[in-house]
Amino acid sequence: MDQSSSRVVVITGAGSGLGRQMARRLLRDGHRVALAGRTASTLEEAADGSPNGLTVPTDVTSHSDVTSLFDRVGATWGRVDVLINNAGMFGRPGSVDQLNVDEWADMLAVNLTGPVLCAGEAMRRMKRQTPRGGRIINNGSLSAHTPRPMSAAYSVAKHGITGLTRSISLDGREFDISCTQIDIGNAATQMTARVAVEALQPDGSLRAEPTFDPAHVADAVSYLVGLPLDVSVPFLTMMANQMPFAGRG
Ligand SMILES: NC(=O)c1ccc[n+]([C@@H]2O[C@H](COP(=O)([O-])OP(=O)(O)OC[C@H]3O[C@@H](n4cnc5c(N)ncnc54)[C@H](OP(=O)(O)O)[C@@H]3O)[C@@H](O)[C@H]2O)c1
Repeated sequence: MDQSSSRVVVITGAGSGLGRQMARRLLRDGHRVALAGRTASTLEEAADGSPNGLTVPTDVTSHSDVTSLFDRVGATWGRVDVLINNAGMFGRPGSVDQLNVDEWADMLAVNLTGPVLCAGEAMRRMKRQTPRGGRIINNGSLSAHTPRPMSAAYSVAKHGITGLTRSISLDGREFDISCTQIDIGNAATQMTARVAVEALQPDGSLRAEPTFDPAHVADAVSYLVGLPLDVSVPFLTMMANQMPFAGRG
């Protein structure tokens, strides 16, 4: 891939699961990828020695960490073309009356404040760089549409991601910035390991739910990253076909 089609990509939560798959796929595609997350060792494993990988230990809930991440990317590659807001956590199950206030704050910080801080730093740079513009990809969830039972905090945060996606799409377009939200259901990662064994259903029963290979999400992200900036894909839903979501179960 020549320098003109090689994008500068920042991925949060790049050390594991979906983020790791995306990072490896984009590095294989020939893009320059900054891998961010809290655990340096897993970021290094994900980068797998690629000369186009830059590992930057980052807590997305810390504004100074996030600013340092984008400063480092700017100092290394001079611009940022794509941000993938992927870091997230599911947290302890519960209905809204069962929330522990501290756990709620942590959940919101990781799943919503982090993406807002990263999008803000990315957008500021995308507006002023030459050529200007860029693409922001938010990892939402089926829970941005419909909650699982006993997942109030996660579902509230992921609904917030939808507001972030819509706001970036609207406020960014005059600056050649576009935004995609990927809403995933049951990609096989650590986060869904329990769901594949038994997941609480709205009728109170437990059932093992199907999962799918997260490599397909990485393929979709590879496609999105390669698109020119005059094309926008606002929402993309990818889910295990047999999982209970469509209709009433
Ligand atoms: N798997 C699915 O089917 C599915 C479905 C819907 C949505 N999603 C979304 O997809 C994203 C990735 O999930 P996954 O399934 O790949 O789970 P995962 O393997 O648990 O990945 C989560 C990543 O987020 C990072 N992270 C957590 N807190 C962070 C923080 N404060 N700062 C920076 N990084 C942080 C973790 O790394 P460190 O702990 O090292 O920081 C980890 O690499 C999440 O946003 C999740 O909500 C996944």
